[in-house]
Amino acid sequence: MRAMETADLDSVVGIESRAFTHPWPKQAFEDILFMRPWVLEVDDTLCGYILYHKVLDEAVILNFAIDPDIQGNGHGDYLLKHSLDALADEGCCHFYLDVRKSNEAAQKLYAKHGFLALGIRKQYYDHPTEDAIVMGMKLPVNSGENT
Ligand SMILES: CC(C)(COP(=O)(O)OP(=O)(O)OC[C@H]1O[C@@H](n2cnc3c(N)ncnc32)[C@H](O)[C@@H]1OP(=O)(O)O)[C@@H](O)C(=O)NCCC(=O)NCCS
Repeated sequence: MRAMETADLDSVVGIESRAFTHPWPKQAFEDILFMRPWVLEVDDTLCGYILYHKVLDEAVILNFAIDPDIQGNGHGDYLLKHSLDALADEGCCHFYLDVRKSNEAAQKLYAKHGFLALGIRKQYYDHPTEDAIVMGMKLPVNSGENT
């Protein structure tokens, strides 16, 4: 796992367009490079990314995907764990995200890392229109371990 750079954007947008029904445009990634985006490389190939918006001790996952060609091989697990650990080491202890109600794979991954369903945002997503499940997790400060 390493920090996302401008040179990664074409690979990132390529994965984004294959991983989501309503992908972010390249400009959206350019606009948030100043935040805390990470990419995952396997054998020098970019295979996924995760983006957070962090304010003080709180971080929200804005986007997260693994290349569809290699999903189901533990890469999402690795990237989520190591990015959460990196933010926990910086004192982050409240984590939130939105996930499509139908996206059971992602919900299971988040639950495995300690996230709980907190509520529903009705018709939050487009293409197709769908509710979002809001999930959250609180860590003991600087522990690096999920509760
Ligand atoms: C969600 C995503 C990031 C997971 O990455 P991945 O590399 O495929 O997942 P992993 O192989 O690391 O699996 C980790 C855990 O996720 C869950 N999971 C992954 N694929 C699953 C599937 N098809 N069905 C059920 N659970 C699944 C399991 O809990 C799994 O842990 P386990 O192997 O111990 O059971 C990836 O599938 C993806 O990019 N999906 C499309 C984009 C997306 O939905 N992003 C999240 C938006 S909120």
